[in-house]
Amino acid sequence: MAAGLYSGRVALVTGSRRGVGRILCEHLLDEGGTVLGFARGEATFKHERYRHFQVDVADSAAVQDTFLALRQEFPVLHLLINNAGVLTAQHALILAAGAARTMMETNLLGPFLVSREAAKLMRRAKWGRIINISSMAVSLEPVGDSVYAACKAGLTTMGNVMAKEFAPFQITVNTLAISAIATDMLSHLPEERIREVVASLPIPRFAEADDILNVIDFFASQRSSYLTAQTLYLGGVH
Ligand SMILES: NC(=O)c1ccc[n+]([C@@H]2O[C@H](COP(=O)([O-])OP(=O)(O)OC[C@H]3O[C@@H](n4cnc5c(N)ncnc54)[C@H](OP(=O)(O)O)[C@@H]3O)[C@@H](O)[C@H]2O)c1
Repeated sequence: MAAGLYSGRVALVTGSRRGVGRILCEHLLDEGGTVLGFARGEATFKHERYRHFQVDVADSAAVQDTFLALRQEFPVLHLLINNAGVLTAQHALILAAGAARTMMETNLLGPFLVSREAAKLMRRAKWGRIINISSMAVSLEPVGDSVYAACKAGLTTMGNVMAKEFAPFQITVNTLAISAIATDMLSHLPEERIREVVASLPIPRFAEADDILNVIDFFASQRSSYLTAQTLYLGGVH
């Protein structure tokens, strides 16, 4: 088999079971990578180079235990994509505190917990790429997304600080803010609302898998070693 873009690389994708995470896993596997997937549920696909770990990224003890277990088999990690996320889109006046807390814990605390454990393994390789999946909601600030958008904005800030902290280990940290793509997350939102948001974009269409993969490959590339603390928006949002 011809060498792929990720041959010889070990990648960790959070939220690997469905949606964007699954698209990411399939691409990394197609391109020769070994992929570790984190999600709360069981694996939804099998591959000889895919290992699934059932873990809630917001549970600090569970994240640490999982890394303790996986580092026996995978002492080195090259790529982390913090993709797991949850969205409850509701006006602030009716958003339950529990739902707000779950978003903060999954969308912000989770990437913090996973990134620092992953960085320890990347430090061993003296090479690493961390990519955080954010959202156009940071820029558009849609009604109903107060906590979600704030978490995603925080993800950029957190990533930018980590970019400084991890630079001495040749680890870059960048953020990809994606626009609407058809997944379970999107299916919970009113169709009319999504159509309006998509129509308002400078490039008024849904994101496709390759729009996302193109940027992932760019940030993950060997050639992107001088590129860190950057946020890239899809669809012309800025
Ligand atoms: N779809 C869009 O239009 C869109 C737009 C902008 C940004 N985004 C961002 O893109 C990312 C992926 O979204 P998606 O649309 O693919 O969502 P999705 O279809 O709802 O899938 C979310 C994935 O995350 C996992 N997950 C959720 N909470 C988790 C937790 N606490 N610990 C571990 N895994 C967890 C889920 O698996 P389990 O349920 O098994 O845990 C699932 O695999 C998210 O960060 C989202 O905010 C999406």
